[in-house]
Amino acid sequence: MRYVVDGGNKLFGKIDVDAAKNATLPIIAATIMCDDECIIKDIPLYLDVVEMASILEKLGKKILFSENNLIISGSLNSTSVIMAETKTLRSSIFMLGPILAKYRKAIFTSPGGCDIGKRPIDIHIAGLKALGVKFSYANDLIYSDASRVICGEVELSFPSVGATENIIMSAVLSNGEITVIKNCAREPEIVDLANFINSMGGKVFGAGYETIVVYGVKRLHGTEFKCIGDRIMAGTFLIAGAMCGGKIETEGIDPKFLLPLIVFLRNSGCNIDLFSDKITLENFSRLRSIEKIETGTFPGFPTDLQSLILVMQTISKGISIIHETVFEARFKVVQELIKMGAKINVSERYATVVGISKLKASNVKCPDLRGGAGLVLAGLVAKGTTYIEGVSHVERGYYNFDQKLRSLGAHIEKVEDIK
Ligand code: UD1
Repeated sequence: MRYVVDGGNKLFGKIDVDAAKNATLPIIAATIMCDDECIIKDIPLYLDVVEMASILEKLGKKILFSENNLIISGSLNSTSVIMAETKTLRSSIFMLGPILAKYRKAIFTSPGGCDIGKRPIDIHIAGLKALGVKFSYANDLIYSDASRVICGEVELSFPSVGATENIIMSAVLSNGEITVIKNCAREPEIVDLANFINSMGGKVFGAGYETIVVYGVKRLHGTEFKCIGDRIMAGTFLIAGAMCGGKIETEGIDPKFLLPLIVFLRNSGCNIDLFSDKITLENFSRLRSIEKIETGTFPGFPTDLQSLILVMQTISKGISIIHETVFEARFKVVQELIKMGAKINVSERYATVVGISKLKASNVKCPDLRGGAGLVLAGLVAKGTTYIEGVSHVERGYYNFDQKLRSLGAHIEKVEDIK
């Protein structure tokens, strides 16, 4: 499928923010530790979520999508996570911690995912090793074995989101034992995962801070849980509003999760009002470039919004330097933007963007999830009709993206590829 976007419309209206993809994925994995029924409420059908659920189903869990809820129950009948889906879904690695916690043994293939850098799993492995898990490798498979209860003290070499989540989960069922994890990532989605685990009777303390302590429990019980709103989705729509002009409101997101973006948008010239779970944005003028932007781990500027603000800088007045500190290959969208007339020069982890007044429509290809969303925003402000190939990249993390944009007044359609 591809998007066909006619640029030029202003955006007006309200967007209800969906549950966060990056909270939902580890939470689905965490249900492995509990055989009772877990109901995860109001889940959008992101492609990544559907794939994650399908992997769990192949491993033996009962999966039911009912209304907007995902209902998971039962136990695994296999702990070999080696199906084709794991090659494209990096989040399949989130299953390692919970499988080891409950079943003590797991076989994995190296996970895939968005092509935004090397994305190794050495921090996950080193952390689990420090807690007593043994690893061996053969025929492209990773064999892991926890012959004793997983617990102890570990300091991560970098605050990786996924490693923090995996290591927390690995220690949850270590009845009576204490695990201390230092230099943890502090993303709100990690707090949500801890809240989910605790709602099943787990004891995870300190999520959202650098040190997390897990008190092992014997078993977990079923739960009903609603994930936090998707800050990246909210940010994407705010950036769309800033670029296209108009007035939009995002509801279902705590503004404190998006502070670096809010400061950035205000400095670019947008009027923004903040409420407890709502953000409104208004802009009717040419945006100003921000001289220097640097991504970082939370509470820094989210790397997942980097491609989107990069696109915004292409039409802002002035010169901007964007420094990507988290992923080493997250400027793949640049070559597509250049086809649309953007003036961008990339050198290693820096992109220098010289703002022009208007992008021109072109035929472009989504390089990855957020880069793809960025191209849609570029199409919304370009002169003419932009054709964007690779909708499935975008749908991994945005649900009904085109429909939501249309509800704000955008001209965008999703059509079959030409054969
Ligand atoms: C998660 C998010 C992703 C976001 C990223 C950073 C999910 C499902 N995905 O990805 O959207 O962009 O956090 O906020 O939550 N690294 C290693 N070794 C490891 C693990 C990571 O070198 O074992 C490196 C990565 O290559 C990357 C950096 O650490 O350069 C950050 O990765 P990490 O925080 O682990 O991101 P993910 O959990 O993959």
